[in-house]
Order: sequence, then structure tokens, then C-alpha cells
Amino acid sequence: VLTTLFDKEIVHSHVTLLNVNDDRVLPFPADFLWGAATAAYQIEGAADKEGRSPSIWDTFCSIPGKVHNGDSGAHACEHYYRYADDVKLMKDLGLKAYRFSISWSRLLPAGTGKPNHRAVDFYQSLLSELCSSGITPVVTLYHWDLPQCLEDKYSGWLSREVIDDFEYYASVCFDCFGSEVKHWITLNEPWCACALGYGSGEHAPGRSQDPGKEPYLAAHHMLLAHARAVKCYRDQYQNTQGGNIGITLNMDWKEPLGDNAADQAAQRRALDWQLGWFADPIYKGAYPATMRERCGDRLPEFSDNEVELLKGSSDFFGLNHYSTDFVSPGEDGPPATPNFFADQDVKNISDPRWQRTDMGWDIVPWGFEKLLCWIQKEYAPAGGILVTENGCAIRENTEAEALQDSTRVEYLQGYLAQLHKAMANGAAIKGYLVWSLLDNFEWSFGYAKRFGIVRVDFVTQQRTPKASAHLISSLCKGEKLRV
Ligand code: NOJ
Repeated sequence: VLTTLFDKEIVHSHVTLLNVNDDRVLPFPADFLWGAATAAYQIEGAADKEGRSPSIWDTFCSIPGKVHNGDSGAHACEHYYRYADDVKLMKDLGLKAYRFSISWSRLLPAGTGKPNHRAVDFYQSLLSELCSSGITPVVTLYHWDLPQCLEDKYSGWLSREVIDDFEYYASVCFDCFGSEVKHWITLNEPWCACALGYGSGEHAPGRSQDPGKEPYLAAHHMLLAHARAVKCYRDQYQNTQGGNIGITLNMDWKEPLGDNAADQAAQRRALDWQLGWFADPIYKGAYPATMRERCGDRLPEFSDNEVELLKGSSDFFGLNHYSTDFVSPGEDGPPATPNFFADQDVKNISDPRWQRTDMGWDIVPWGFEKLLCWIQKEYAPAGGILVTENGCAIRENTEAEALQDSTRVEYLQGYLAQLHKAMANGAAIKGYLVWSLLDNFEWSFGYAKRFGIVRVDFVTQQRTPKASAHLISSLCKGEKLRV
């Protein structure tokens, strides 16, 4: 295996090695949307304040053992109270765009019905600060925080009822915030919400009772909820508000380990079970053939009307990308009871020489270029690709080390050089939003993982830009990328 791995790596070495002494400078288009991203539960805090009701993540965090150190988003970065300073920070950095999410249970504490006017005021104030600072908002409707009351009422994403409720919630957002927001994202990383929320149980709502069925059912409803929100926007708002709306999917690159049919088929399955699961219904009108064959009737079916609703339901392709694996067929054989993870029959392998982030994710810039070109070829997304997340968690032992931030700077330079290469090779990439603006609540890892380009001291809530923030800032100001 290692010989193959090494050969493979040698083939890629011309793009893998980042020679920082080579003063290549890479220009980006003047209208490229540079910025940073966050999500409501990860930064807002004020979780039980100002009329917000609990989401499934508040409940999940309260279960002992689910989240590292018993952490939760109860206080997080206190962004709810500090948003004006945070926008000032973004303005000082010169960010062109800022992606954040709306908390459904803050806006609609009953999951549906009457909006909470304090939430409306909060998001309107945030948006007006952003707009007066010249920062383009990119707004996610659902970043994993379903109102707990809807989980209690009908088991959340496992029920079709959620589709109407999501559409209504989306329409409230379009009504309240649509005059400022021109870039909407319906769902963030539905793969994680389904595979980790209903397969492994590592994410809220923490279910793993029926991992051969529930992830597929939840995904089916998420896809339909996405499509209905898009239809609602297009029918009732897009003409007057003039924005666009899409979805954000996550995918690591999967490279066949060897140059053989079995490894290539494993690559296809790995791509299908993650990206294709959502992108194929949206761009092609059906789940991938591999999934239909292997899951049989465990994979729900779309009616003809639903296929029509889904097809073309994204004005751009939102992509979150972090890492790469080599893949070959799995070795475990079929499990006794069906399981989402076993269904795809893929083994992920990493090269031992790859550097890793604090999440244990391999740093492999060339995989980014391959993925971007693959998306361009496979889906040819009409409105182009918007990178809605990319970045890394770095272990920072001291504040000085955090601010010096050399690993994150190298990571970003490496990934951005590959993004540039993908554009040169024909991928229509419209923008890049780094994950994340701030160190924040990293889900089941609590505050132990720091993804921010700005350091947050969680005792004093002080914010300090790291070297990576200055890199992003220089790009926002139109400087060329130096690698
Ligand atoms: C994916 C998610 O969208 C975001 O919430 C998370 O913090 C980052 N990637 C890093 O894991």
C-alpha cells in the first residue's frame, strides 16, 4: 500500500510542495468575494435570552458526555451583544463579505408562528452595520440548530411536516431581511446534519437507532425543504429583492489509492455518498445510481413533481472543503444491520507524511483543485461556485503562538494557490469565505478547537487578529496572493 501511496504522492508533488521562497504572485478578479464565515450557535451566545427558545444543539449539549468538557453555545463569543464591535473588526480588516446564520429558534421561538421582535431587531441591526461598513452579507438559514419544539412535536427532520415549517421560516427571513440580503444559503452541510445527527449520533439530535434508514430520510426532507424555500424565494421575492439563493454542501476530495477500477469505483461511491447525495437531486434530478442500487427501498423516492421542484434549485454551488483522503474499497464486509457508513463500502487512507490540523484532518492543498474542477465538470453550476468555508483548527499553546499563526497562514496560502489553479483550469469560482472569523464553539469539540483568523479569549472576550487575518485582509484589499 505504501509504495502505491508514495508513487501517488510523487505524481502530485509538483502541486503539493509549497515553496514559500518562490515569489509567485497570483492575482484574483477584482469582484472576487473575499470574506469570512460564522454560524449562529457557534458565536451568538445569549442562548436563553431575548426570547430565544432552545434548539436541538442546546439539548444535545446538556447531555453529559456528548460535548467535550461539557461545553455549550450558551455564551460562545457573546456576539449577540458584541456584534457592533465585531462588524467594526471586519471593517478594519477590509472584509468584502461576511457569512453568518440566522437562529431559527431565536426568530421563531415556537418554530413557526409569530416572529420574536427582538430577534428581528438584532439581525436587522447586524445587517445595517454590515451594509454601512460596505460588507456584503451571505446568510445561511439553517446551520444545524432546529428548534427543539419541532423535534419534540414531530421528530424534526424525520417528518415531512418540517418542510412546511422550514418554508415558512425562510419566508419570514426573506420578509424581514431580504432588502439587505442578496445571497441566501438554505442549508449548511446537510451531509453532517444527516450522517452525524442520525447515523453516528455525534451531532444533534444524536440519533443512531436506525442508521440504515434515518440519515436517508432526514436528507430527503432536507432536500425538499431546501427546494421549497428556493421556490418560495423565486416565486415571491427574487423579482423584487433581486438576490440569489443556493445550498452549501461539504466535500473532502477522495483520490483513488491505486490506478485500478476497484479504487476508482470506491472514489465514485465516496463522492456519491457525500456530495452526490445532495448535489445530484439538485443538478440532475435523482439520487446517484450507486446509492439507489445499494440502498434499495431504504432510500426514499422523489415524485415527479418533487423532481421538478429540486432540479435547478440552486443559483450557485456553495462548497465547504477542508481535507483529502485516498480511498479504496472497504474491508469489513456488510454489517449485520444496514448502516449509512457501511453502505458506501469505502476505506479512507491518509499518507503518513501529510501534515495534520488539530482536528486530525490532513493538509492536502492539491485535493482542493481536483475537487473544484470535478464539481465544475460534473455539475457545471450555472451561477458558479462560492467557497463558503475553508480553513483549519490549529493548536495554539500560547497567545503569541496563536497570533504568529504560521501553520494557518501556510494552509491558506496552499489552498488558495490551488483554488487559483482551479480557476485557471476553468472552474468558475466567485468567492472564498474563510472558516472562521472568530475562534468559536466547534460542536462536539466545544472550545478546544480554534478555527478563527481572529483569536478569542473566552474569559475576557477580547478579540485579536492573527497573522491569517492579515493575509485575508490583504486579499480583500486587492493584493495578489504570494506563494
Ligand atoms: C463545517 C461547519 O459548517 C462549521 O460549523 C464547522 O465549525 C466547520 N466546518 C469546522 O468543522
